[in-house]
Amino acid sequence: MTNVKPQELRIDIDRLVEKLAALAEISPIEGTEGCARLALTDADKAGRDLVVSWMHDLDLEVAIDGIGNVVGTMPDPGHRPPVMCGSHIDTVQTGGRYDGNLGVLAGLEVIETVRASGITPSRPLAVGFFTNEEGARFAPDMLGSLVYVGGMSVEEAHGIEGIDGAILGAELDRIAYLGSGPLPASPPHSFVELHVEQGPVLEADAITIGAVTGVQGISWTEVELTGQSNHAGTTPMALRKDPGVVAFRTAAFVRDLVVELGGAQVGTVGRIELHPNLVNVVPATATFTIDLRHTDNDVLAEAEKRVDEFLRTTAETEGVSVQTRELARFDPVAFDANVIALVADTAASLGFSTKRMPSGAGHDAQMLARVCPTAMVFVPSVGGISHNPAEHTSAADLEAGANVLLQTMLRLAEDGA
Ligand code: GLV
Ligand code: MN
Ligand code: MN
Repeated sequence: MTNVKPQELRIDIDRLVEKLAALAEISPIEGTEGCARLALTDADKAGRDLVVSWMHDLDLEVAIDGIGNVVGTMPDPGHRPPVMCGSHIDTVQTGGRYDGNLGVLAGLEVIETVRASGITPSRPLAVGFFTNEEGARFAPDMLGSLVYVGGMSVEEAHGIEGIDGAILGAELDRIAYLGSGPLPASPPHSFVELHVEQGPVLEADAITIGAVTGVQGISWTEVELTGQSNHAGTTPMALRKDPGVVAFRTAAFVRDLVVELGGAQVGTVGRIELHPNLVNVVPATATFTIDLRHTDNDVLAEAEKRVDEFLRTTAETEGVSVQTRELARFDPVAFDANVIALVADTAASLGFSTKRMPSGAGHDAQMLARVCPTAMVFVPSVGGISHNPAEHTSAADLEAGANVLLQTMLRLAEDGA
């Protein structure tokens, strides 16, 4: 077509913003920019169908594997491992339009830009979206990418029960995304994920691009406490076996502990359910989740141990029984030094301010890092807000991130080719 040089290619931000809006219009949250597309719901299916139709518009070869991951690859007669990007399109129930979706739709935009230029990269480019990254309906998070790289068998994944009692394999089948592509998948040449930071660092430092060095360790536990349900007015305090009190005390302990440990330690009790959940009934059961994260695995393990000790001692004193279930446990991940440097160098060469930083959130890239050279590109989140419909990133920052993704992928495609 034209004689444009690869390094001069730039994405079309209007096209990208339009796609982000169109995807967010599936299951929107009234009066906000956000959307609610829990994994493998009807809304997720509608989002998947739309993104797959865009992959077909670009003549990509679309492959769906046995856990419902979808990868669109530029046709390549040699079927060489592609330079791949991507992320997820499921959201938490109170999701923003950028978390995950940006990495997928920017990947489509990169491929559309390259295709329209007439340039054929030395390696094919691919964009994928992975099933159930959020882990908000089925645990663990990053499930699709975990199975993709062989970290969990597809059979085990199919049997996972969601928070609503649905079984993952049955839901995949129901929404027609139970594919036949082999698992674990054959590794791409390399993987780059563009994502909103979801935290306050880039904005506070007035930096446009984060070259992500790795992802902190993640520990999710579900606790189920069983006590003695009884009348709230007649049961003397000394005779109570109240699982609610144990749950609340543990939630407060988590907060105090992470403050005491300081530094990068974070901890959250994000879900708590009492049964029967009535004003005048001592609860029979309390079920709650604990999310602990740290970049240092030893500190994370120490936090896990101390929370567990507190929980068990408090429950024993109250006469309440404890059952715990590990929902997710992923060690901290370091990304590939060369790809991190490439992201940082590419961003600088495009004139953007850049900072190397770890990720606080979990990402599919942390799984892909097990099988190929991987790194991530972050762009700022306004007010550091995410997992909230108010999540926002300016069009200028989206454009910057997508252009860094484009140029990083083009450079990877030529690397040693
Ligand atoms: C998943 O995206 C998480 O970081 O909670
Ligand atoms: Mn995400
Ligand atoms: Mn998320």
